[in-house]
Amino acid sequence: PSITYVEHNGTEHVVEVPVGKSVMQGAVENNIPGIDADCGGECACATCHVYVDAAWLDKTGLPPVGSQEASMLSFAAVTQPDSRLSCQIKVTEALDGLVVRMPEGQH
Ligand code: FES
Repeated sequence: PSITYVEHNGTEHVVEVPVGKSVMQGAVENNIPGIDADCGGECACATCHVYVDAAWLDKTGLPPVGSQEASMLSFAAVTQPDSRLSCQIKVTEALDGLVVRMPEGQH
């Protein structure tokens, strides 16, 4: 599935991320700046914060926000209703074309 990552400055990166990887891993493995992922995907750092494109928010392919994710998100800077932790979004075929935007900074 192809995932589009948009940096805060508007730079777009469209990459293929294998099914089963997280949206965070897709960014880190492709050296896309803007996602720090300090905890390595343990849902314990909130530095993989992204904003999910509005068009994707009510699609069924997106896993719901978990309770640990919700509590970690409260530590992320400038959260919005479309905020997610990208390590908690597993890539599936249903997410082909997903667009996420990175915040101005992680923390
Ligand atoms: Fe740490 Fe997602 S990588 S919370």
